[in-house]
Amino acid sequence: MIRYNKQARILALDNGSIGYAIYINDAGYLETVYFGKSLGDYSDFTCARKAGEYATPRYSVAEGRDVGYRDGFKADCAPLEISPHGLTDKRGAPVIIRGEDGSFITDLRYRSHRRYKGAPEIPGLPHAHGEGCETAQFVLEDRALKVRAHLYISIFADKDVIVKSFSFENYGKKRVKLARAMSMQLDLPRADYDLVHFGGRWSKERDYNCNPVVDGVQEVSSNLGRSSAEENPFVFIKEKKASFDSGEVIGFNLIYSGNFKFRTFVGPFRGLHITYGINDEDFEWALAPGANFYTPQAVIAYSAEGIDKMSQTFHRFIRENAMTYVHDREYKPVLFNSWEGCYFNFDTDLILSYIDDACKLGTELFVLDDGWFGARNSDRAGLGDWQVNKSKIDLHRVMAHCRERGLRFGIWFEPEMVNPDSDLFRAHPEYTLGWGLDEISLSRNQFHLDFANPAVVDNIYSQIKAFLEEYKVDYIKWDYNRTVAEHISRAYPADRQGEIYHRLVLGYYSLIGRLTRDYPDIMIEGCASGGGRFDMGTLYYCPQIWCSDESDPAQRIDIQFNTSLGYPLSCIGSHVNDSKMASYSAKAALALFGTYGYEMNPNLLTEGEIAELSATAEIYRAHHNAVIENGTLYHICAPYEGNYMCMQCVSSDKSASVVLFMNKLKELERYRFIRLKGLSAKKRYRNTLDGAVHTGDYYMNVGLNISDTWLTEFNHRLIVLTEE
Ligand code: GLA
Repeated sequence: MIRYNKQARILALDNGSIGYAIYINDAGYLETVYFGKSLGDYSDFTCARKAGEYATPRYSVAEGRDVGYRDGFKADCAPLEISPHGLTDKRGAPVIIRGEDGSFITDLRYRSHRRYKGAPEIPGLPHAHGEGCETAQFVLEDRALKVRAHLYISIFADKDVIVKSFSFENYGKKRVKLARAMSMQLDLPRADYDLVHFGGRWSKERDYNCNPVVDGVQEVSSNLGRSSAEENPFVFIKEKKASFDSGEVIGFNLIYSGNFKFRTFVGPFRGLHITYGINDEDFEWALAPGANFYTPQAVIAYSAEGIDKMSQTFHRFIRENAMTYVHDREYKPVLFNSWEGCYFNFDTDLILSYIDDACKLGTELFVLDDGWFGARNSDRAGLGDWQVNKSKIDLHRVMAHCRERGLRFGIWFEPEMVNPDSDLFRAHPEYTLGWGLDEISLSRNQFHLDFANPAVVDNIYSQIKAFLEEYKVDYIKWDYNRTVAEHISRAYPADRQGEIYHRLVLGYYSLIGRLTRDYPDIMIEGCASGGGRFDMGTLYYCPQIWCSDESDPAQRIDIQFNTSLGYPLSCIGSHVNDSKMASYSAKAALALFGTYGYEMNPNLLTEGEIAELSATAEIYRAHHNAVIENGTLYHICAPYEGNYMCMQCVSSDKSASVVLFMNKLKELERYRFIRLKGLSAKKRYRNTLDGAVHTGDYYMNVGLNISDTWLTEFNHRLIVLTEE
């Protein structure tokens, strides 16, 4: 897949479907001469090139002769892998290294490269893995500083994905500082794209925002210490006319859970200059002699056939190459979570009654949420004290009750936090981030623990381990209910405070990494005030993430649909709750297009509601694994474009499909056929809407007739198609 033409100095990564080509120019800069559909043959890029000239394409129409040349090469108008910093190229370099003299000038030039099978290991960080991948590793050296940069570019045989990252190595005798260390640069020769990003807030995560790429700078970023509800690291650019089925679309994501910055720049030469990686705000990393620094990996998915092809590529990549939970492809149990039913107000008897009633809904995994430990009877106390509150709950009895009924059992943790009213804080106030300041910001009555300090991580690890040794749980919900405010750690000297944001993320990964290694059978579900840390870094450890605290379809339709543009349904934690705006069957149908579970007071359900919900649990059991978890997702109608939403999943053998149509506002006398996708043209399928049997061709060209005279709010059709 990776070929190097020594004479032309063109390295091409090509999997037969996409291609990426780099020219090593005379000055030692890496020019990104091509990224797009596979070309197979890259010899055209060497045409008519004389020493000192550009490989095609270049951005500049006229070659300036006055400023900006170094070694006969003018860097600011060429598509590059790494723009130099401090020279004439002011588009925004992905890397800035400061020498001991305080200089910012960073000029990394080619020294060598190699190709190998497999993906690089990134110590301390989650990273892509898997078969069928090849990597090109370039070694570059700074012209003045004794720093080596390694640029890794991987291509996958069966997915249209490029993964990029850097590592930096100080081989000199003096300390240097990384003032910016992003994961990638991508320069494209045209800029007439739309930029789609997923901003939002608590309870309204991942809103669809589509804006033209404009001249100058645009940025999608988080500086909240987590990937955040306010912006998600998944973004894509698309040709303006692109639809779900057609047009060029390039998606980006980062295997990382902390501050990120996706930045575009369009300058006088009209090309699109993209940099992506760790946010450089308040970032500074000291690189001692002999030390290395690794950036997280950026993942780029290319599609020449619309948004869905990019989505499906990310879905497969995340499941097959980013996740490491060993049981992900197996059947996932129907989950019941106690939170919205009783919040902190429970005792053993109430939880036992919840378990009994949850069983009637087809529950297979019962989860006791917040409130079981320390003095945790409200969100004011207890975080940091991970010992069972035995006066409140007899956890052994609860677990035995679950086991007797054939249920698995799970429990809630929020490991990175501490309440000021806790034994941990009283014993170790210095474990708190920002400790020593006049005042530390409280959020939800809690402080952020200093996870940059390994002693703090060790303390929490020992506490959780002691719990897990005594209580053999099957599942952990790992919450993270505030953002980082004062990013100051007393465990580091004054001149290393620029490392804290990143070190907090490394602390998170080190704890969750240790626990997943120690307890590989425990499934961990990520959570952060709902979906505030929904990212590929977390998915490396957690096969699913609670998508949002908002389960009311009024907002949930958008949240779930938009999330599924970049993330597989198998990881989208979704429950039926008792929000009043929609029926249980509508909420259950929506939850089915995710991991499916419940979160309400089960004691209050009527017989009719129990029957309705268990009927959906039956559909879950019959079709979830093959169709929704492991099938292919098609987006048919986007809720951000109109009054309704439609998604469809098809099993990989195309023998079954599940379709969900849902409208938002009331509609009268609507005549409507929905054209399905992804079926086998000649196979015959019976549908549960009208019981008819038609060919795949019929469904994909005539469509499913869902005309109705009166559609009320959140009226929906959940339709199963099975091969006859
Ligand atoms: C967060 C989560 C909820 C619940 C509470 C418990 O808000 O998103 O699902 O676990 O914390 O405090």
